[in-house]
Amino acid sequence: MKGFSALFQPGNIGKLRLKNRLIMNAMGTVLVDSEGNPIERMFDYYRARARGGIGLITTQCASVSADGTPPFTWALYDDKFTPGLRSLVDVIHEQGVKVSIQLMHYGLLIIFGGFIPEGMSIKVPSITSWLTGDKPYEEMGEADIERYIEDFAEAARRAKEAGADAVELHACHGCLVSTFLSPVTNRRTDQYGGSVENRARFARRIVERIKEKAGEEFPVVVKLNGSDDIEGGITIDEVARQAAILEAAGADAISISSGLEFWTSLSIPCYAYPEGPMVTLAKKVKQAVGVPVITAGKISPELAEQIIRGGKVDFIGMGRPLLADPELPNKLREGRLEDICWCVYCNNCIRTEPGQGPCSVNPSLYREGKYPFPPAESPKKVIVAGGGIAGMQAAVLMAGRGHPVSLYERSNELGGQWNIAAATPGKKDYAAFTDYLRRSLDKSGVSVTLGTEVTKERVLEMKPDAVVVATGAVPRGLNVPGAIGRHVIQANDVIMGKVESKGKVVVIGGRFIGMEVAIWLAEQGKEVSLVTQAGLGENGYTLERMTYRTLVRRLIELRIPLYMHTPALEITESSVIIGWGAEVFFLPADTVILAVGAQSDNKLAQELKGVVSELYTIGDCVEPRDAASATYEAARLAAKI
Ligand SMILES: Cc1cc2nc3c(=O)[nH]c(=O)nc-3n(C[C@H](O)[C@H](O)[C@H](O)COP(=O)(O)O)c2cc1C
Repeated sequence: MKGFSALFQPGNIGKLRLKNRLIMNAMGTVLVDSEGNPIERMFDYYRARARGGIGLITTQCASVSADGTPPFTWALYDDKFTPGLRSLVDVIHEQGVKVSIQLMHYGLLIIFGGFIPEGMSIKVPSITSWLTGDKPYEEMGEADIERYIEDFAEAARRAKEAGADAVELHACHGCLVSTFLSPVTNRRTDQYGGSVENRARFARRIVERIKEKAGEEFPVVVKLNGSDDIEGGITIDEVARQAAILEAAGADAISISSGLEFWTSLSIPCYAYPEGPMVTLAKKVKQAVGVPVITAGKISPELAEQIIRGGKVDFIGMGRPLLADPELPNKLREGRLEDICWCVYCNNCIRTEPGQGPCSVNPSLYREGKYPFPPAESPKKVIVAGGGIAGMQAAVLMAGRGHPVSLYERSNELGGQWNIAAATPGKKDYAAFTDYLRRSLDKSGVSVTLGTEVTKERVLEMKPDAVVVATGAVPRGLNVPGAIGRHVIQANDVIMGKVESKGKVVVIGGRFIGMEVAIWLAEQGKEVSLVTQAGLGENGYTLERMTYRTLVRRLIELRIPLYMHTPALEITESSVIIGWGAEVFFLPADTVILAVGAQSDNKLAQELKGVVSELYTIGDCVEPRDAASATYEAARLAAKI
């Protein structure tokens, strides 16, 4: 057990006995059919996590009301959904693991997904000036409240009938119930608004009604926001009082999260947050209630052990770390820490754009049924050109299928552009992924050669059956006069410590790297401004919103001047000339840092056309994108080669 004995003590939620203190947090997936029933891939996904040694699985949220369920949402608003739920419960129970079903009405949270079906209104406690955009908001009347209370209770009854061990009431992050709890979203003047007690009335009545329908002994967990992470949001003292009200109503445990997913970023804290940003909040709630308290949010096993040992909370929720590695609890229990594929909190798992990989570090996420890949029918001699994460991942997976694989990297280090990411301030944990891939390469028997470039001649000499080109991308320059001056440097070189900025700095580029570099320099006390030809995070695929907001918030806190929709027209010795509307201005600059994207390095792929019978390209050399796409492409190739 090596150092994690507190985490592997059994514990209780009500009468429900759990084998350890680790709970899988609810995480929405789209592994459902258009009606809202689970599909086979959902069973595979949960089976893998149940096998991984977790004590309790909280399922993704199930939608309790027909009028609040967009397509491809897991639904539980009718008895017709009970058989699907029962199958899921059975899959988890077969592995000796308990299961709690998270129940939710989206309410305002539906806007986080960005898709509101025609005819569906967004139910809110009150219409406030914060509800922006041309959206179909609808203030709830008493009849809606009564109907939804019944919907939650009916869904809980179905969960119990399907054999689930508990339910969790989703009352955080800005879903319908949480918008009642918070003063920033609830400005009602009736018995459901105003005082702490009134705002808790809707949630309290739901818990009471669930207990009436599903029985006193059927455990109910309530997941609350410890903080809305926003000016005017709920305070921790109010949360503690509401938690006590819910305990009195019958709640068997309180889970503490935070943040409003449509406005803030704390609910799914990205790499830029310190460890365990919600633990102090959970500890305060624990002092106010007698039932167990659960908390999650970027908690490492070491911190988790400390928290449980110190009695700060009773159970640790784990979300993204289990997406990265479903076997994490088993590996912790067995002391196999070096086998763990760590989550780096890049938050690619919560992007909604189609066609991108769902996880930077785990290629099997949501495709668990396909793993491990079967042995290749006829093993091929494969050369991989490029030791970035696409090349490394593909090499490991192909070797796992029995192909003899040789990987060549032209620099003296594996990792490629991921090493730049890992060198970015605040992202040091990113190095865990390259360490993991390096260890996986060692174990898989791939022959790795550093400091050697793959060339056409080498390929002709080695006569491989297949070549996988994963040569990545290089930073883009800026096509304006003066952009190659000595004081014009690349953001990547600044991050890697190859060059230093001096004097007044202008960063050009408003996507993640530009924002990160500007923040880093401002934190060092440098005078920095940021220029971008579009808005922040525009021009290109949509940036993940939690990370985006975290960075934008920091830019604002640091009062970094932002020149948006402002193209850089020319760079002189002492300024960047910017176009501002129809006019031109000079922005003083001693150093200009370019963070204007990357371009594919596909020279080798061009050269090898017609030279080898099987030629594949993966990762950024196809088109610069993010790590999750590289990982996904590597796996797709390894499955078919
Ligand atoms: C992909 C994804 C989907 C999520 N969906 C839900 C959800 O449906 N209900 C919920 O209460 N929290 C949801 N969360 C939040 C997690 O339950 C958890 O509170 C959060 O990720 C912090 O824990 P972690 O740092 O261990 O990931 C989701 C998180 C992720 C990453």
